[in-house]
Amino acid sequence: MKIGICSDHAGFAYKTRLIEALEQKGYEMVDFGTHSEESMDYPDVAHPLAEAVENATVDCGIAMCGTGNGMAMTLNKHQGIRAGLAWDREIGELIRRHNNANVLVMPARFIAFEEVLVITDTWLNTPFDGGRHQKRIDKIPVK
Ligand code: RB5
Repeated sequence: MKIGICSDHAGFAYKTRLIEALEQKGYEMVDFGTHSEESMDYPDVAHPLAEAVENATVDCGIAMCGTGNGMAMTLNKHQGIRAGLAWDREIGELIRRHNNANVLVMPARFIAFEEVLVITDTWLNTPFDGGRHQKRIDKIPVK
């Protein structure tokens, strides 16, 4: 599985550690930046990640910024993106089971790295429930 990943400066340290952890598990990681802790603007990396998920050049995406909200707001401007903000294991499970989130967003400044690992592992290994949730997802796009 090929996973696109991005962060701003606030998520850079966790992104670096998460790429290493996921590569060790055999995932192919595509890093959309940022590449240092120098202050930058999250849309500059969120839009390219969103386009890669929409174009299926990656299978899914992971994004981190300080609160996760800037990333989620930007990613969800794209019609093909369902970016879910998760700050614990159960929400990581539910954004897949109920929302079929194709991008996982986490708030790097508000959770421990161990939590990032647990949330990511849960989200990657949880299936979409379908059924009534598919009907709801179908109603999300603005015509
Ligand atoms: C950066 O200071 C911070 O605003 C950013 O990481 C993020 O939390 C925005 O939503």
